[in-house]
Order: sequence, then structure tokens, then C-alpha cells
Amino acid sequence: MDTQTPSTTTVKHECPGATPPRRAFFRWLTGLLGATATGLLTLPILGYFFARRTRPAMWVEMGALADFPLGETRTINFDNPLRQPWDGMTSLTGVHVRYQGQGDDGKEQFLVLAANCAHLGCPVSWFPQSGLFMCPCHGGVYYETGERASGPPPRGLFHCVWRVKDGKLEIEAPHYPTLHDTLTGSLES
Ligand code: FES
Repeated sequence: MDTQTPSTTTVKHECPGATPPRRAFFRWLTGLLGATATGLLTLPILGYFFARRTRPAMWVEMGALADFPLGETRTINFDNPLRQPWDGMTSLTGVHVRYQGQGDDGKEQFLVLAANCAHLGCPVSWFPQSGLFMCPCHGGVYYETGERASGPPPRGLFHCVWRVKDGKLEIEAPHYPTLHDTLTGSLES
């Protein structure tokens, strides 16, 4: 007597002309979604490294030239016109301005330093008694020229772009300065 179980064979019945297009469609859709996700993730990164600011400069008036005595550092606070609606109090910023007299070309010379510490951005204060800028957050110290004196900041204070127009000092509205995006770009050492 034959005790072997008869083998069974499964036969796939594929509908010709239906599955391959569906499979191809999902493969195509997966590729499209993958490419879209990659693009969405990559564009901001590329923009961070290669984008150039193209918006026109906005100038903020700091005061008449007579308001800046020679060799004195004045702190000027203002509402930054670059603010966003959600910035709130953080749109209030400041700069430290020092009139340095006339240059060899007879033009007025100013030192305009952003208030943001070059370490993590805390507002630095000017201490005329010691002739130093000091950061309250981690003890960063800068000389009156804005150069780094001590502490964690990796560099000196950021210099703002300024101009004299109609007898008044104006500065270009400063964005938040970073090591990779300073306020004066290639002009700054
Ligand atoms: S933020 Fe100024 S020393 Fe850290």
C-alpha cells in the first residue's frame, strides 16, 4: 500500500497586464516621495551654506553726530526693524557706538559694535570705569575696541555696518550675528 502523501502544488494565477503596472506605479510613487522628502530636507541645509541675503538694507538712525563725544562709548537701544511678529521683546536690541574722530580722508570714523556676545549672544554691557565690555552669561570680556580680552567668546564683538547721512549716524539693521554670518561679511577681519 502506498503511504506517501500526494504532493500539492500551488499555482499562482497572475492577472496578466494588471499587477506589473500597479507594482510599477507604487515603485514610482515611492521614488517620488523619497525624492521629495530628500529635497525638503536638503534645501534648507543648502540654503544655510550658500544663500546670499538679497533683501535691501534697512537703515536705523542712531542720532546726530553731535550726540557722540569723541572717544566716548554710548549704548543705544532700538527696536530692530528686522523683527518678526513673534519676536516680542527680543526685537529690542542695541549697539555700542564710539566716535573716533576724523580719519586721514577727513571723514568721520565710528566704531559700532553689536551688543550680542560672540559666544552665545547675550547682551554685553559697557563699563567705562574699566574700559571693558562684559558679558553677564559666562564672563566673556572685551576691550573697548571690541577685541576679545578673556572668557569663552571665540572672537571679538561683531562690527555693524554704518554710514553718515545728512549729519546723522545710521546703521544697517543688524540680524543676529554668528561666526558664519557676521554683520559685515568679508569686510570684517
Ligand atoms: S554668552 Fe557671553 S560669554 Fe557666553
